[in-house]
Amino acid sequence: MVLDPCVYLPDEIKVDGSEGGLLTFTKCCLPDNKLYNILEHIYFAENATVNVWEISAMGRQSTQESSSITETHYVVGRRGKTDGGTLTLGRYYALDGSLGAQVFLDVTRPHVVFICGKRGYGKSYSIGVLLEEICRLKDVVRERLGVIVVDTLGVFWTMHFPNVAEKTQLARGGSEPQGFPVRLLVPMKTVAEFRQQSIDAVSFSLRVASVSAAHWCHLFGVKSTDPISITLSRAVLSMQARSDCFSIHDLVVRIQQDDRASDLVKTAAENFLAVADSWKIFNAKGLAVTDLVKRGVVSILDLSSLPSQPLKDVVVSLISEAIFEAQVQARRAYEEEKVGLMTETAGLPLVWLAVDEAQVFIPRDHDTLSKEVLLTEWMRQGRQPGLSLILATQRPSALEPEVLSHADIIVCHRLTAQEDIDMLGLVRPTYMRGDIAESIKKMGDEKGVALLVDDTSESVHVIKVRPRMSRHGGGEPEIIL
Ligand SMILES: Nc1ncnc2c1ncn2[C@@H]1O[C@H](COP(=O)(O)OP(=O)(O)OP(=O)(O)O)[C@@H](O)[C@H]1O
Ligand SMILES: [Mg+2]
Repeated sequence: MVLDPCVYLPDEIKVDGSEGGLLTFTKCCLPDNKLYNILEHIYFAENATVNVWEISAMGRQSTQESSSITETHYVVGRRGKTDGGTLTLGRYYALDGSLGAQVFLDVTRPHVVFICGKRGYGKSYSIGVLLEEICRLKDVVRERLGVIVVDTLGVFWTMHFPNVAEKTQLARGGSEPQGFPVRLLVPMKTVAEFRQQSIDAVSFSLRVASVSAAHWCHLFGVKSTDPISITLSRAVLSMQARSDCFSIHDLVVRIQQDDRASDLVKTAAENFLAVADSWKIFNAKGLAVTDLVKRGVVSILDLSSLPSQPLKDVVVSLISEAIFEAQVQARRAYEEEKVGLMTETAGLPLVWLAVDEAQVFIPRDHDTLSKEVLLTEWMRQGRQPGLSLILATQRPSALEPEVLSHADIIVCHRLTAQEDIDMLGLVRPTYMRGDIAESIKKMGDEKGVALLVDDTSESVHVIKVRPRMSRHGGGEPEIIL
């Protein structure tokens, strides 16, 4: 069925026939009187309805008033201008499996990108695609970005290597396997392992003076009212009052001098600190934020070798807090420069933090140290200081519900658990007609396919994320028989 060009489409088109059909739109005039060239073939399943918003989204940004056919260029998270500062996310995906025009994602302003989907359907892979695309940006744009990835499972360091396994799929899209020079930050203990593989890993550490008594208590699993916590708090506060540069050994000496604590409590506190020292993560100097987030560089913070979840939580809360504070300062300097109170600065960098397995750090049912920072600072106040987040989870229902209300871009891979679908259904945007569960079901089970909800253009699409150019470290291990 071919629609006449330049007709006003009705609000809804019902496809007749029990087998559905293939609609081919060449040109059509939508109710806003703009001419959209729609190059897609859209396949509709049995008795499906298609709404004008869905069609207009397919042809978004081809806003010329002329009748010439131009390539569609849709940028998620952006209104208006089309060029520069975009990441190629993938292509529109028709329900018959065919691919349409490319879909891009904006990086010229802050966003909260929420990626979800059941196990093995492409969340980490999609994060990897976004990271590759950041590496591929023109220098002038990339230099304005600082990117840090919290990698709890050690799946992103493989970005150094080309994705030879998917060479054929890449060739179909006109690209080829390629490794990327991402910067790998690892605990001191694992630096040597990476260097043996000729990967230039940098050791990262946290400054002891930035670790509060609450952080230590969380790390050791002791209540704040426990005598060990009280002794530790006294030592931490007294050391912090004297200096911003002290070691774990200095803390131990301070505890030994504490005549208000019993020997038993002192020994327990010292033992905890000895264990913390053995992780080689804390030292007197620690890595400065400027070394942690580098302009124009994608830094992977590989936490996979850390021995406990509370330790990972402490690391994420400390680094995200430090970045937030640095960005607030940078924003102030930027505004002072704008009103002539300060000489030229390097401009406000836009910082992106990607957190895979986000439910671990921002859970629904209990508090964590990183949840406090990411929710109250990054999500609620992060737009002005230029902070963006990419959060991925298998279980939207296990994540703090407020996260979804902050997300302006949702990439939903296949989901089947009813409570997870219901969770997404709760935030179903008003512009989304139809049922989210139905839309997810229609996507099928192809890996990499996702429902994309874009709050900026208030539209919903089905896309297939492009193949990775660099090796994905999160594939399933297989027993070859
Ligand atoms: N866009 C894509 N194109 C092609 N293959 C893909 C795509 N996305 C995912 N896959 C395939 O699916 C596999 C699993 O993807 P990924 O590691 O991203 O899963 P996940 O959703 O992060 O799972 P988990 O929740 O277990 O971490 C990949 O190794 C890859 O083979
Ligand atoms: Mg994953």
